[in-house]
Amino acid sequence: MNTRSKEWRNSMRLTVNYNYMMKKFIGEDGLRDADLTAMKEEAANAFAYVKENRGKGMMGWTQLPYDQKEIVEDILATAKEVRRKFKYFVVLGIGGSALGPIAVFNALCHLHYNELAPSKRRGPKFYVEDNVDPERMKDLLDVIEPEKTCFNVITKSGATSETMAQYLIISDILNKALGDKASEHIIATTDHAKGNLIKLSKQHGYKTFYIPDGVGGRFSELCPVGLLPAAVLGLDIKLMLAGAAYMDGICSRPSIAKNPALACAVLQVAAMRRGKNVGVMMPYADSLKLMADWYCQLWAESLGKNVTLDGEPCNVGQTPVKALGVTDQHSQVQLYTEGPFDKVVTFLSVGNYRHEFPIPHGCEDIPDVAFLGGHTMNELIAAENKATAYALAKAGRMNYTICLPMVNEFTLGQLMFLFELQTAYAGAMFNIDTYNQPGVEAGKQATYALLGKKGYEAKKAELDNAPAEEEKYTV
Ligand code: PA5
Repeated sequence: MNTRSKEWRNSMRLTVNYNYMMKKFIGEDGLRDADLTAMKEEAANAFAYVKENRGKGMMGWTQLPYDQKEIVEDILATAKEVRRKFKYFVVLGIGGSALGPIAVFNALCHLHYNELAPSKRRGPKFYVEDNVDPERMKDLLDVIEPEKTCFNVITKSGATSETMAQYLIISDILNKALGDKASEHIIATTDHAKGNLIKLSKQHGYKTFYIPDGVGGRFSELCPVGLLPAAVLGLDIKLMLAGAAYMDGICSRPSIAKNPALACAVLQVAAMRRGKNVGVMMPYADSLKLMADWYCQLWAESLGKNVTLDGEPCNVGQTPVKALGVTDQHSQVQLYTEGPFDKVVTFLSVGNYRHEFPIPHGCEDIPDVAFLGGHTMNELIAAENKATAYALAKAGRMNYTICLPMVNEFTLGQLMFLFELQTAYAGAMFNIDTYNQPGVEAGKQATYALLGKKGYEAKKAELDNAPAEEEKYTV
């Protein structure tokens, strides 16, 4: 397999099949060709907006597949050292500073990676801590040895309480255990100028990688935020970036018949306008299960907005829901098939799984079981995927399928870039700021006030004076 050859790369091209979004297949609730034609101009405008703004403002992420040659070499050299020196690698971060590394780890490493013998892993044991649950921190410390661990603290703002709380705990442990050598166990990934982590990095001399300007958290997986953890795991980060560039190339035309990211954006926006306020992301592969988590943050935080760029109230967005095929066929699909007509389902299918598992013959006297013998698990999961898409369509439910020929660095790079472009196009169609998240500020400020942070006295007073909760509403 020559992953550089054009032939191999073309064989790994993602496809989007949206037959089951169309009226012809699902009936009244579906889209007509004319509906898509009517959105042609709007789509072309969104395409032009994204094209014009590439590399500008918060759209620096569009350049990541192209402008990181030196950084990638530094990442690869650092990752090699980490693999040589450490038994554990722990990412401390949250939101866009954690979901990408988690998703890529899940997609491209063995599903029981940490349980494998060291000789069967390409890197150290790997953990991403994206919460401040005290039990989780205690449990992490039970399974790692801090003196054999490299901690990658990732925060663009350098001000995120969750990440900085983790940093305080870990640096305290490292200082007590290792004294002067503690700083050799921390790698910082942050903004080059703003925030507290960069100050701490300079003060303690941490190895530091920078999150480029114009790259916000949820669009940062293809910069050092995601590339360093992936490289530590021994993954081919150049191939991942090549996959992103390949998808970018495919999406270089303004037509939804040629540009899969634009097609997905148009389908989703059309669905939302028909009341599909829930977007289910349902991979038929355990390896892609956490890609759905990454997508959910990208889609929810980018599109959930209450005001347009012109200051008009809007309240747009779609609630993303993650599901896993086939597991959730036995949990949620009943609702998707017969519940409210408020959903559009995106399936992620895999052409060729990395392993084939035959199902042996047996139970010949029980026909309900015997029919499975002689097939493979690959055939079974593919059939169930196809059957679920068909059953949803028969029930008049919008769904479409993104197919990855295989799960590897190249296809994952394509998928992530497709989702990022889709989000950028949809945001442009709604005329909103896709890249901010003012809605999470209110909760942050209340937390600061409750913990007595300086400067939040007025907020604290507001909370103290809020109407008292009533006993009768607690049962
Ligand atoms: O997408 C975003 O910008 C957010 O989800 C951030 O990633 C998240 O809040 C963490 O921020 P930071 O990287 O500044 O710690």
